[in-house]
Amino acid sequence: MPSLMMEHAMPAPHPNPPPQAGEGTNDRCANLSFFLADEDATLALARRLAAQLRPGMVIHLRGELGAGKTTLVRGMLNALGFSGRVKSPTYTLVEPYHVTGLNLRHFDLYRLHDEAEWEAAGFRDEFDGHNVFFIEWPEKAQGLAPQADVEINLTILNEGRKAEVRANTETGRQCLEQL
Ligand SMILES: Nc1ncnc2c1ncn2[C@@H]1O[C@H](COP(=O)(O)OP(=O)(O)O)[C@@H](O)[C@H]1O
Ligand SMILES: [Mg+2]
Repeated sequence: MPSLMMEHAMPAPHPNPPPQAGEGTNDRCANLSFFLADEDATLALARRLAAQLRPGMVIHLRGELGAGKTTLVRGMLNALGFSGRVKSPTYTLVEPYHVTGLNLRHFDLYRLHDEAEWEAAGFRDEFDGHNVFFIEWPEKAQGLAPQADVEINLTILNEGRKAEVRANTETGRQCLEQL
C-alpha cells in the first residue's frame, strides 16, 4: 500500500457549507482524505500543503494530542526551507517564523484560557491578512481566531493516521485543487 494514499478527491459542493463572511464565491467546498501510514507520510502531505501556502492563508489543525498536528506544521516549515527546530508552542501559544518571503505564525491554543488572555497577548493584531497561520486547537478560540481557509482533521488509527482536509473558502478550494 502506498504510504500516502488518496481515498477520494472531490472538488464537489459540500452538502451543508458553513456560512462564510467576506467571500464572493463561498458556495464551493472541497474535501480530500488521506491515509497516512507513518510519520513520513504525514511529512509528505505537509510538503504538498506547503507548496500551496499563500500570504493570509489560515489553516486549522484539529485532532487529539499526538494526532500529528505539530508534525504537519514542522513538515510544512521544513519544506519551505526552515532548518531550525520547530517547537510546539504549548506554553507560549504562538511561535513566529519568517521563511522564503512568508511570515508564518504557529499557534497552539490548547492552553488558552479565555478571551482576556487572547487580547492581552495581542493576538488580534496578528491577523492582518498577510501572515500564514497554522492554528492547533482552534476550538479553544471560538469566535476569536479567523475562520479557516483549510481545515485539517487528524484521527489516530490503530496504525497510522487519517487526515481529512477540507476547504472552507475559495482560497482554500484553490489550495486543495492543486494538492
Ligand atoms: N502518520 C503517522 N503514523 C504514525 N505516527 C505518526 C504519524 N504522523 C505522526 N506520527 C507521530 O505521532 C506523534 C504526533 O505528535 P505531534 O505532531 O506532536 O501531535 P499533536 O501536535 O497533534 O499533539 C509524533 O510522535 C509523530 O512521530
Ligand atoms: Mg501539537
